[in-house]
Amino acid sequence: MACAYWRPMDTFTSHSPTETESLGEQWGRLLPGGCVIGLSGDLGAGKTQLVRGLARGLGINERIHSPTFALVMIHNGGRLTLNHLDLYRLDTQEQIVGAGLSEFLAPPAACITVVEWMERWVGPRPARYRHVRMEIAAEMERLIEYEDAGV
Ligand SMILES: Nc1ncnc2c1ncn2[C@@H]1O[C@H](COP(=O)(O)OP(=O)(O)OP(=O)(O)O)[C@@H](O)[C@H]1O
Ligand SMILES: [Mg+2]
Repeated sequence: MACAYWRPMDTFTSHSPTETESLGEQWGRLLPGGCVIGLSGDLGAGKTQLVRGLARGLGINERIHSPTFALVMIHNGGRLTLNHLDLYRLDTQEQIVGAGLSEFLAPPAACITVVEWMERWVGPRPARYRHVRMEIAAEMERLIEYEDAGV
Protein backbone atom coordinates (compact mmCIF):
# COMPACT_ATOMS: atom_id res chain seq x y z
CA MET A 1 0.00 0.00 0.00
CA ALA A 2 1.34 3.46 -0.83
CA CYS A 3 2.47 5.45 2.16
CA ALA A 4 3.71 9.04 2.15
CA TYR A 5 6.41 8.20 4.68
CA TRP A 6 8.00 5.50 2.57
CA ARG A 7 11.69 5.80 1.56
CA PRO A 8 13.06 2.39 0.62
CA MET A 9 16.50 1.28 1.78
CA ASP A 10 16.81 -2.44 2.36
CA THR A 11 14.88 -5.70 1.98
CA PHE A 12 14.61 -8.90 3.99
CA THR A 13 12.62 -12.01 3.05
CA SER A 14 11.24 -13.85 6.06
CA HIS A 15 10.21 -17.49 5.73
CA SER A 16 8.62 -17.94 9.16
CA PRO A 17 7.19 -16.00 12.11
CA THR A 18 10.40 -16.85 13.98
CA GLU A 19 12.55 -15.21 11.30
CA THR A 20 10.40 -12.09 11.42
CA GLU A 21 10.69 -12.00 15.18
CA SER A 22 14.47 -12.42 14.99
CA LEU A 23 14.76 -9.42 12.67
CA GLY A 24 12.78 -7.34 15.16
CA GLU A 25 14.94 -8.65 17.98
CA GLN A 26 18.13 -7.46 16.24
CA TRP A 27 16.61 -4.02 15.80
CA GLY A 28 15.42 -3.96 19.40
CA ARG A 29 18.97 -4.49 20.60
CA LEU A 30 20.32 -1.61 18.49
CA LEU A 31 17.65 1.05 18.14
CA PRO A 32 18.40 4.39 19.78
CA GLY A 33 15.96 5.96 22.22
CA GLY A 34 13.61 8.63 20.91
CA CYS A 35 12.98 6.98 17.55
CA VAL A 36 9.70 6.01 15.87
CA ILE A 37 9.21 2.89 13.75
CA GLY A 38 6.17 2.95 11.45
CA LEU A 39 4.86 -0.38 10.13
CA SER A 40 2.61 -0.67 7.09
CA GLY A 41 1.17 -3.80 5.53
CA ASP A 42 -2.05 -5.79 5.32
CA LEU A 43 -3.79 -7.76 8.05
CA GLY A 44 -1.55 -10.69 8.92
CA ALA A 45 1.55 -9.18 7.29
CA GLY A 46 3.46 -9.83 10.52
CA LYS A 47 3.60 -6.36 12.09
CA THR A 48 2.82 -7.61 15.58
CA GLN A 49 5.20 -10.52 15.11
CA LEU A 50 7.97 -8.04 14.36
CA VAL A 51 7.04 -6.00 17.44
CA ARG A 52 7.33 -9.15 19.59
CA GLY A 53 10.92 -9.39 18.43
CA LEU A 54 11.55 -5.70 19.03
CA ALA A 55 10.26 -6.07 22.57
CA ARG A 56 12.45 -9.09 23.19
CA GLY A 57 15.50 -7.26 21.80
CA LEU A 58 14.78 -4.40 24.19
CA GLY A 59 14.66 -6.90 27.05
CA ILE A 60 10.89 -6.68 27.64
CA ASN A 61 9.24 -9.91 28.80
CA GLU A 62 5.55 -8.90 28.61
CA ARG A 63 3.23 -10.50 26.06
CA ILE A 64 2.70 -8.37 22.94
CA HIS A 65 -0.63 -8.13 21.09
CA SER A 66 -1.94 -5.70 18.47
CA PRO A 67 -3.35 -2.83 20.56
CA THR A 68 -6.26 -2.58 18.12
CA PHE A 69 -8.80 -1.58 20.76
CA ALA A 70 -6.54 0.08 23.32
CA LEU A 71 -4.79 2.09 20.53
CA VAL A 72 -1.64 2.15 22.64
CA MET A 73 0.13 -0.29 24.97
CA ILE A 74 3.13 0.83 27.01
CA HIS A 75 5.71 -1.82 27.91
CA ASN A 76 8.32 -1.19 30.58
CA GLY A 77 11.09 -3.35 32.00
CA GLY A 78 13.49 -3.17 29.05
CA ARG A 79 16.44 -1.05 27.97
CA LEU A 80 13.89 1.49 26.67
CA THR A 81 10.15 1.84 27.22
CA LEU A 82 8.19 0.58 24.21
CA ASN A 83 5.08 2.48 23.15
CA HIS A 84 3.13 0.16 20.82
CA LEU A 85 0.42 1.92 18.80
CA ASP A 86 -2.14 0.53 16.34
CA LEU A 87 -4.05 2.95 14.09
CA TYR A 88 -6.21 0.28 12.42
CA ARG A 89 -9.47 1.38 14.01
CA LEU A 90 -8.99 5.08 13.29
CA ASP A 91 -10.80 5.81 10.04
CA THR A 92 -11.11 9.55 9.80
CA GLN A 93 -8.68 12.43 10.21
CA GLU A 94 -10.78 13.69 13.15
CA GLN A 95 -10.44 10.34 14.90
CA ILE A 96 -6.70 10.23 14.33
CA VAL A 97 -6.12 13.79 15.51
CA GLY A 98 -8.67 13.43 18.35
CA ALA A 99 -7.13 10.25 19.72
CA GLY A 100 -4.33 12.30 21.32
CA LEU A 101 -1.55 10.06 20.08
CA SER A 102 0.78 12.77 18.79
CA GLU A 103 2.86 12.80 22.01
CA PHE A 104 3.83 9.19 21.24
CA LEU A 105 5.09 10.25 17.80
CA ALA A 106 7.78 12.36 19.50
CA PRO A 107 9.03 10.03 22.24
CA PRO A 108 11.66 11.08 24.79
CA ALA A 109 15.11 9.49 24.76
CA ALA A 110 14.08 6.79 27.25
CA CYS A 111 11.36 5.45 24.91
CA ILE A 112 10.78 4.19 21.41
CA THR A 113 7.45 4.09 19.62
CA VAL A 114 6.30 1.51 17.11
CA VAL A 115 3.12 2.14 15.12
CA GLU A 116 1.10 -0.54 13.32
CA TRP A 117 -0.93 0.79 10.35
CA MET A 118 1.26 3.89 10.11
CA GLU A 119 -0.17 4.54 6.62
CA ARG A 120 -3.23 5.91 8.44
CA TRP A 121 -1.24 8.64 10.20
CA VAL A 122 -2.03 12.07 8.76
CA GLY A 123 0.45 14.22 10.68
CA PRO A 124 3.96 15.14 9.56
CA ARG A 125 6.66 12.50 9.30
CA PRO A 126 8.06 12.13 12.84
CA ALA A 127 11.67 13.07 13.60
CA ARG A 128 14.06 10.10 13.95
CA TYR A 129 11.68 8.00 11.89
CA ARG A 130 12.14 4.63 10.17
CA HIS A 131 9.47 3.13 7.99
CA VAL A 132 9.01 -0.62 7.56
CA ARG A 133 6.78 -2.00 4.83
CA MET A 134 5.62 -5.62 5.13
CA GLU A 135 4.07 -7.60 2.32
CA ILE A 136 2.56 -11.10 2.26
CA ALA A 137 4.42 -12.93 -0.54
CA ALA A 138 3.22 -16.48 0.24
CA GLU A 139 1.63 -18.35 3.13
CA MET A 140 4.82 -18.26 5.20
CA GLU A 141 6.79 -15.70 3.23
CA ARG A 142 6.91 -12.01 4.07
CA LEU A 143 8.79 -9.29 2.22
CA ILE A 144 10.08 -6.73 4.70
CA GLU A 145 11.43 -3.45 3.29
CA TYR A 146 12.90 -0.96 5.69
CA GLU A 147 14.83 2.26 5.98
CA ASP A 148 18.17 3.02 7.52
CA ALA A 149 19.32 -0.58 8.05
CA GLY A 150 16.97 -0.76 11.03
CA VAL A 151 19.27 1.17 13.35
N1 LIG B 1 7.20 -15.16 7.71
C1 LIG B 1 6.24 -14.78 8.57
N2 LIG B 1 6.42 -13.67 9.34
C2 LIG B 1 5.46 -13.25 10.19
N3 LIG B 1 4.26 -13.86 10.34
C3 LIG B 1 4.04 -14.96 9.59
C4 LIG B 1 5.01 -15.45 8.68
N4 LIG B 1 4.50 -16.55 8.09
C5 LIG B 1 3.29 -16.73 8.59
N5 LIG B 1 2.98 -15.79 9.51
C6 LIG B 1 1.72 -15.69 10.24
O1 LIG B 1 1.10 -14.47 9.85
C7 LIG B 1 0.43 -13.91 10.96
C8 LIG B 1 0.98 -12.55 11.26
O2 LIG B 1 0.19 -11.99 12.27
P1 LIG B 1 0.45 -10.58 12.92
O3 LIG B 1 -0.55 -10.46 14.01
O4 LIG B 1 1.88 -10.41 13.24
O5 LIG B 1 0.06 -9.63 11.70
P2 LIG B 1 -0.26 -8.07 11.72
O6 LIG B 1 0.42 -7.51 10.53
O7 LIG B 1 0.09 -7.50 13.04
O8 LIG B 1 -1.83 -8.03 11.50
P3 LIG B 1 -2.92 -6.96 12.01
O9 LIG B 1 -2.95 -5.86 10.99
O10 LIG B 1 -4.18 -7.75 12.04
O11 LIG B 1 -2.52 -6.45 13.38
C9 LIG B 1 0.61 -14.87 12.14
O12 LIG B 1 -0.49 -15.74 12.17
C10 LIG B 1 1.88 -15.63 11.76
O13 LIG B 1 1.92 -16.93 12.31
MG1 LIG C 1 -0.96 -6.47 14.45
